[in-house]
This record gives sequence, C-alpha cells and structure tokens, in this order.
Amino acid sequence: MTNQLLKNGRLVTFDEDIAEQYGLVEKGAIAVSNGEIQWVGEFEDIPQAYRQYEAVDLEGRLVTPTFIDCHTHLVHGGNRAREFEMRLQGASYEDIARAGGGIISTVKATRGKSVEELVEDALPRLDSLIAEGVAVVEIKSGYGLTTEEELKMLRAARELQQRREVIIKTTYLAAHAIPPEYENKSDEYIDQIVLPGMEIGHEEGLIDAVDAFCEGIAFSPSQVERVFNKAKSLDLDIKIHAEQLSNLKGTELAARYGALSADHLEYLEEDGVAAMKTSGTVAVLLPGAFYFLRENKLPPIQSLRDYSVPIALATDCNPGSSPVSSLLLILNLACTLFRLTPEEALKGITLNAAKALGIEKDFGAIKAGKKSSFAIWDAEHPAELAYRAGFNPLHSMYRGDEK
Ligand code: NIG
Ligand code: FE
Repeated sequence: MTNQLLKNGRLVTFDEDIAEQYGLVEKGAIAVSNGEIQWVGEFEDIPQAYRQYEAVDLEGRLVTPTFIDCHTHLVHGGNRAREFEMRLQGASYEDIARAGGGIISTVKATRGKSVEELVEDALPRLDSLIAEGVAVVEIKSGYGLTTEEELKMLRAARELQQRREVIIKTTYLAAHAIPPEYENKSDEYIDQIVLPGMEIGHEEGLIDAVDAFCEGIAFSPSQVERVFNKAKSLDLDIKIHAEQLSNLKGTELAARYGALSADHLEYLEEDGVAAMKTSGTVAVLLPGAFYFLRENKLPPIQSLRDYSVPIALATDCNPGSSPVSSLLLILNLACTLFRLTPEEALKGITLNAAKALGIEKDFGAIKAGKKSSFAIWDAEHPAELAYRAGFNPLHSMYRGDEK
C-alpha cells in the first residue's frame, strides 16, 4: 500500500484535541502513506500535498479506529457448558472452583492438546472478533500451570498472529490458579513454576506482559508481589486480575508496580481508584463476566470518572466466566449494565484499550502519526454500535498497519 486519500467518511477519531463528542469529524478525509496516517480533517481542508493521493470513497460511512480486545483467555481447550448448567441450578462460581471444577477443569482440557489443536480451537473465536472490526487481541496463558504447558499456550497465541491479519499481544498468567499437584503448596508453585517459566518465556520472546489473579480462590497480594518483582526484574509490563469477587487491595499493589492495567474491579474502592490515578493504570472492565456470573456489585464507575482513570472494556473471552467473543456485545453490555455512555464504551475498546496494552502510540485513534487501521461501518451515528445487540454492521476494514 502506498499513498491513499480516504474521503467522504464520518470519522470517530478519538483525537483528544478535537472537542466534538467522539472526536467526530463530519465529511472527513484521511491521508495515509505506507501504513501511517499523515493527516486527518474535513474534506475541504485537505492540504494540497495530499490531493493527488489515490482516492478511496468511503461513501458517507462511519469510520472508527479498529477495535482492540485487551483482555482475553482466547487460547484454551474444551468448554464449561456443564458448569453453566450447575450454576443455573444454584452452585456458585466459587463453589465450583473449590470443588476442583472451574479453571482447573479447563486446565485438564488444555493440557491434553497440542499447540496446533489449541490454535485450531481458538481460530473460530478469533475469527468472530475479527469479523467485528478487531485488529489487536491480547491473549493470556493460565490454563497450563506447568512451565512447559504455559509456554505451549503462549506459542499457540503467537501462532495465531501468523494465521490471521491480526496483532496478538501475549500475557503470561501462570499465577491464575493453583494446579492440583501443588494443592496447599501455592508458594512452592510460584517458586518452582511461575517464576522460572517467566524467565524461559521471556528468553524465548513469548511474553509481552505478566498478569496474576489476586483473589481468595487464587493468589494472595504477597504472592502476587513476588510475581511482579520478577516481572520488573525482566522489564516486563504488568497487569492484574483484581477485586473481582472481593477486595484484597490487589489494585493498589499493581499500581505501586506501575501496572498498565487492573482488570475486573467490581469490589474496588476509592483508595484503589486514587492509586490508579497516580500510577496511570487503566481500569479494564469486563461486563461479559459480570453478566455471565450474574454479579450485582457494580465497579465504581463514577469514582473512576471523577479521578479521570481511563476505562477500557474487553471480552475476557474464556470458557468459565465469560464465553463471549463479541466486542460489539460488550459495548452494549457496558452501556446497559454499567451505564457507560456509548462514547465511553467505544473509547474503551479503542483508545483506552490501546493504553491498557501500551500501544497507544500506534493504535486506538485516528490521528496523524498513528497506524492506518480503520473499521468502516454501515452506520450513521457511533451510538448505533453500542445500541444494537446481536447485529454486526461492519462494512470492511482498512488495514495499512503492518505487523
Ligand atoms: O478473567 N478471573 C479469573 N480468570 C478468568 C476466569 C477464568 C475461568 O473461569 O476459566 C476471568 O474471569
Ligand atoms: Fe480474565
């Protein structure tokens, strides 16, 4: 791709220098050269230099940055439809986990698969995301729970990037659950598996960030701290699953380590929000898990707004708490369940999701200097993307961004 001038689009730029809601530019044009945005503005203001670029007519369609799913467990074996039935009969997510189901049942199903089989299983979920305008997907390990099995998951995640026109960011989540062979020996699990596995995965270039599940059914804050110390020593980005089912103050811990994001956050309180503000940590909210687990404790949305903590949204695509592979559905759930505005929701899967992955230099907005990566919609107003459920108005994607 060389020089092109995309014209006659309604642009949702999320350029923070544009005062309009959504950073909207009506009758917009975008000049693109070699995968990078050169200029964005109203058609009538196009500088002379870009007027001879090859024209692409957007025919009045809505254009957004391509979507980013910044928190998924997309690579995994099997499914947990049986546990879904059990929960409908009254068992709780925690009951099932403590009885050896939950994450551990997916661990068993994942350990039985080869890299190729994991890739084949994940592709339909990935394709479902891509079909709705997604260009970047974060994928966590966390269902292997041995050094080799965790690395296998990350290899499968990396392989997905070879199979599709998509950018994959990998996150090492060996501190997701305590495997049966380390029952009542969680400290040993961290020393013998989590920390050495991180070192090998890092050496092999398999890890972009490190995550940990800080919760009563998973790891304590002091255990998570040991994981983060190792991540810091390897100069890896940090994320956390925190305050999902209780408040262990994992978010404040992660903020002290300068975490890119803290995710879930239903039980977060104001001191945790203040800590995120100080560290610049993004709040990744996961309405799919909230919905699927039929939670009723809402994350502290107003407090996050008051402190101007960026809010991102993601599918959390996983077989246990959020078997969801649609970011359009997440937009709708975030508005209906969390009362986000459609503008906040859309920003949550573009600009703020880019921030949650540390890729906002290149992605998340339509602005000069960023990659030319756009989703083009058969829609008039951006609120339409959040308003419908179960409907995909994607017309096409324009991808000049290179891997
Ligand atoms: O993000 N919270 C922990 N981990 C996943 C659930 C994983 C599972 O149940 O398999 C989550 O919700
Ligand atoms: Fe998760």
